[in-house]
Amino acid sequence: MAAVDRLEPAARAYLDLLAGCLTRELFLDQEWWDADLREWPGDVEALRAELRARGWRIVRRSDPAARAEGRDWPPTAETMVGTARTSNVVDCCVEAVLDGVPGDFAETGVWRGGTTILMRGVLRALDDRDRRVWVADSFEGLPAPAPDAHPTDAAIDWSHVEVLKVGADEVRSNFARYGLLDDRVRFLEGWFADTLPGAPIEQLAVLRLDGDLYGSTMDALRALEPKVAPGGFVIVDDYGGWEPCRTAVEDYRAEHGITAEIHAVDWTGVWWRKP
Ligand SMILES: C[S@@+](CC[C@H](N)C(=O)[O-])C[C@H]1O[C@@H](n2cnc3c(N)ncnc32)[C@H](O)[C@@H]1O
Repeated sequence: MAAVDRLEPAARAYLDLLAGCLTRELFLDQEWWDADLREWPGDVEALRAELRARGWRIVRRSDPAARAEGRDWPPTAETMVGTARTSNVVDCCVEAVLDGVPGDFAETGVWRGGTTILMRGVLRALDDRDRRVWVADSFEGLPAPAPDAHPTDAAIDWSHVEVLKVGADEVRSNFARYGLLDDRVRFLEGWFADTLPGAPIEQLAVLRLDGDLYGSTMDALRALEPKVAPGGFVIVDDYGGWEPCRTAVEDYRAEHGITAEIHAVDWTGVWWRKP
């Protein structure tokens, strides 16, 4: 039985609605993207000139399958993780609370904040008045590869990817949009290597890693995995889809003798439960 089946119907309905808004799955019929004109089979420069002259844009619809699987970078949604992974977040957070696992929730790598907004929504749905949600990000995108970067990171420089740069104030206003910004939401602003080791987090019931890179995943694991309480959950967004992340997780688990079974969420997300 999924943990959400243990919820009151109203709480479950709220969380379903919240997730559908955060991914925009409920509004995909209203969502349009600028089409990539490089895919135009004819003379693309002539097309561009024609569109400019007419003051027109060519737009396309979103692909529901891509959104459900968390394979696109949505134009307005607060999360890019898709349906299977938002359901997994709800399941782990609900199970942790209902089983009495002590500690807060945290995500390292939040982008527009959607997954952490959902975590705060779980606390509201369960009328939990104590736990906090830690929101950790540079709020300026991915780091450039360091000179001593792990080999799996060395060739990846996404530091210039503008869409990944979402400021902390924009994330705060996303929380506020859903009525979920309060003092239980704690921001850790800066590079994980600087903010996580000394973060005033005592214990975690759910730790979710979504920093893509080897270094970002390892920095988060080293600082925060030891704070996950027995019975708590570690969720890794990029394990299946990103070799650098998977390698960091495998190295960390081997170094620390972690043998808890890894469960797949979908094509990339996984989780394990601390015994
Ligand atoms: C794929 S996005 C996260 C997606 C998000 N979890 C969601 O629900 O849509 C990756 C995020 O990790 C952050 N990030 C990656 N490495 C980081 C690091 N070393 N320190 C701080 N932030 C980092 C980026 O700024 C970016 O916001």
